Amino acid sequence: MYTEKVMDHFSNPRNVGEIENPNGVGEVGNASCGDIMKIYLKVEDNIIKDVKFKTFGCGAAIATSSMVTELAIGKTIDEALVLTNQAVAEALDGLPPAKMHCSNLAADALHEAIKDYKAKNS
Ligand code: FES
Repeated sequence: MYTEKVMDHFSNPRNVGEIENPNGVGEVGNASCGDIMKIYLKVEDNIIKDVKFKTFGCGAAIATSSMVTELAIGKTIDEALVLTNQAVAEALDGLPPAKMHCSNLAADALHEAIKDYKAKNS
């Protein structure tokens, strides 16, 4: 049901935790399943230098959180802002259709963190 990449990121999630004094924080929840994801950003010279996450949620939510941190690190904030849930799911070689909504959480939390960064730095 799950790809090897999903299982890998679920079993060994990358960039779990918090960043001290983050430049931006985003938190989103899924009302239907109750899962919650929080993303912390460290931005320098418009580049995302570090991303950490904390996810209280299903395996797909943890795998997509982990993948979105890997996709975001090294990108400019504008590049990261256009990362879609589809891109996150594709980077994991796909998610079962019933689990696609879980990837929304990851992309949305990242976008919220970037909006928070922009609001604090405009
Ligand atoms: Fe809630 Fe996956 S079931 S995010």
